[in-house]
Amino acid sequence: MPLFDVYPLYNVTPVSGKGIHVYDDKGTEYLDLYGGHAVISIGHAHPNYVKAITEQVNALGFYSNAIQNPLQKQLADKIEALSGCKDYELFLCNSGAEANENALKLASFKTGKKRVVAFSKGFHGRTSAAVAATDNKNIIAPINAQQAVTILPLDDIDGVKAELEKGDVCAVIVEFIQGIGGLDQGTAEFFEEVDKLCKANNTMFVADEIQCGYARSGKFFAFQHYNVTPDIISLAKGMGNGFPIGGILIHPSIESKYGMLGTTFGGNHLACAAGLAVLNTIEEENLIDNTNAMSEYFISVAKTIPQIKKIKGRGLMLGLEFDFEVGDLRKQLIYDEHMFTGGAANKKLLRILPPLNIKKVHIDQFFEALKRVLK
Ligand SMILES: Cc1ncc(COP(=O)(O)O)c(C=O)c1O
Repeated sequence: MPLFDVYPLYNVTPVSGKGIHVYDDKGTEYLDLYGGHAVISIGHAHPNYVKAITEQVNALGFYSNAIQNPLQKQLADKIEALSGCKDYELFLCNSGAEANENALKLASFKTGKKRVVAFSKGFHGRTSAAVAATDNKNIIAPINAQQAVTILPLDDIDGVKAELEKGDVCAVIVEFIQGIGGLDQGTAEFFEEVDKLCKANNTMFVADEIQCGYARSGKFFAFQHYNVTPDIISLAKGMGNGFPIGGILIHPSIESKYGMLGTTFGGNHLACAAGLAVLNTIEEENLIDNTNAMSEYFISVAKTIPQIKKIKGRGLMLGLEFDFEVGDLRKQLIYDEHMFTGGAANKKLLRILPPLNIKKVHIDQFFEALKRVLK
């Protein structure tokens, strides 16, 4: 049976990984500066991760959400401890889109309203409300277009004010560092004013931390670079280092009710074991400090390369902008230099999303390769 052909594929077949590297079926080593799309947070096949998942699957891989699962509470407590987000409550699901779908649904339950405000070049996933809040007409099917969404330019505070004051907006959803859109960020004044406007207009402020969260920005959450208090924070990607897990942190002003949200697989034993191993490793290996140190080093080297016109992003969520489209450059990096990097909607941007335990030696290897390719 053929596969439904929705992905243009590179002709590489990774079969194993270790730390910052993956290995293909011919034994070639690749440096992973893409992290499987910002997913690999603690590195491939990390021993803590392998041990936790192996032990858990040997004990109990799955049971339903109808029984006690203390691993969920352990995960919630660990997220609270590492993020410093006190008092939030955790709902677990399986992916980023599902996290945002639940976030928007909760915002609508809480406020009794249904319109969402989102931003240009934002991406929030492929499910119904999440995709409608995504600024890409090509992936919105007619069935999704029934959602009431208004997309505004980032930093358009007058626009946000005007829309919220109409009284029908349940949520403002934002990526504090845009991912696939090309690493744009709003200003601190903008984010802080949006936070205030949400609170003044009974609108939920949803922080989509699916890509920029979980230590990648140099703080546990990217919104923590600003003075804001989101009502709902959505998580996925780096949370499971490849194991499918997502979740939302919910401010206690939103009251839970039996049956309000639900999932079969969300919060299962294996996913929680993976999630706990990720957080324990972020803590034990001081990966937030490493992210900041490696980010600073990466940026300092990038600044010495004249072909790089702009450096975007924060932490280990970085973009290098050139004055030409980077499709061929990425191919050369993969096929000639054996290095994975990411692309963006902005075709001139090379995205760098490595595991958070990357070291200087890997960054040096990347820039040596980049210089060879740019010659
Ligand atoms: C910011 C952001 N939100 C949501 C999603 C959707 O996550 P998933 O692909 O796990 O559904 C993504 C995925 O790239 C993302 O980058």
